[in-house]
Amino acid sequence: MNAWLITGGAGFIGSNFVRMAHERIDAKLIVLDALTYAGDLARIDDILTSSKVEFIKGDICDTELVQSIFKKHQISKVIHFAAESHVDRSIFEPHAFIKTNVEGTLVLLEAARKAWGDRQDACFLQVSTDEVFGALGPDDPPFNESSPYQPNNPYSASKAASDHLVWAWHHTFGLPTIISNCSNNYGPWQYPEKFIPLMIFNALEGKPLPVYGDGLQVRDWLHVEDHCEALLTILEKGSAGETYTIGGNNERKNMYVVNMIADAVDDITGNPKGTSHELIRYVKDRPGHDRRYAIDSSRLQRELGWHAMFVFEDALYDLVGWYIWHKEWVDSVRAKDYSNSYKKQYGDI
Ligand code: NAD
Ligand code: TYD
Repeated sequence: MNAWLITGGAGFIGSNFVRMAHERIDAKLIVLDALTYAGDLARIDDILTSSKVEFIKGDICDTELVQSIFKKHQISKVIHFAAESHVDRSIFEPHAFIKTNVEGTLVLLEAARKAWGDRQDACFLQVSTDEVFGALGPDDPPFNESSPYQPNNPYSASKAASDHLVWAWHHTFGLPTIISNCSNNYGPWQYPEKFIPLMIFNALEGKPLPVYGDGLQVRDWLHVEDHCEALLTILEKGSAGETYTIGGNNERKNMYVVNMIADAVDDITGNPKGTSHELIRYVKDRPGHDRRYAIDSSRLQRELGWHAMFVFEDALYDLVGWYIWHKEWVDSVRAKDYSNSYKKQYGDI
């Protein structure tokens, strides 16, 4: 049976993608994930028993394992999500980022090259980020497929390096690759160290809401299901050797998002209005903090017909409800590794 190899499929975006692909695609889904602190099978436990899904716990840096997967299965597509993904952690512990994001991508590219030879009907889709382009000034146009790479932190540098490898494997060896560079995602199953779920949970628990610097940094938020739709569209209609930028056209300042979350939490839990706003604390800025990201996805819309469906404000309100319903899951992932890294990042606030 035709198979897709999905790396990092137990993570935030990967798990949403596996679920969507399971519903839509007639292929076996091989999910390869090391289950680091950020990976959790509970995200996909509803489909793990499906005969279409096979889960393999393993590291993408393990050459023997990765090659054995290509030998055993007729892999026609690789959708490469597996990565160390949190900027703050990359500042404390850059080595893991270089190892997984750069070396792991190399292992996958080499395994695909060996297995596919000159085959052009396959596809290696590198799921990357807008952060590889660096930071925008307030009046700059959004990033697009022609934006130069200028990564500013260890995470974005490691993703940029892996994008360069993917491009080189296409250019030099003819490997059929596509790179997608997406803006910040939000939605169900995000690990609660990232901005939106962290603010939701701290507000729900009456803990401080730590805003870095002046809180006027801008991110272009895209719902994770819109991102997964975009990836399926690219896999279906995209061309090898191309890059596609994916964004939500939802540029919002961090303070605006925190205020929205505070309002939503108060509204849904019945707190007196303004209760959660009192939890906001301005804390030391992230070193090298990129001021603004934004993406122009008009090419993806024009050429491949993709459009984002979610309205940010509505979906963010609903997301607060989702996290309340999934508090047990959040508690279980936080039990693994959360308090040490939280203390390292935020001290005693
Ligand atoms: P995540 O941290 O939630 O998940 C990463 C997954 O990769 C986890 O399941 C983890 O266990 C797995 N993993 C880590 N190291 C591994 C290794 N060595 N071998 C095998 N598995 C390993 O990340 P995410 O937010 O779902 O991001 C997925 C991908 O999308 C990343 O490549 C990231 O750079 C990219 N991306 C993320 C965003 C965003 O806003 N989250 C935006 C654009 C692009
Ligand atoms: P994050 O979710 O880490 O994504 P990225 O840095 O990859 O864009 O952070 C989103 C924004 O929120 C970013 O500008 C940093 C800011 N932020 C805070 O102000 N406080 C926090 O506690 C966190 C985690 C992030």
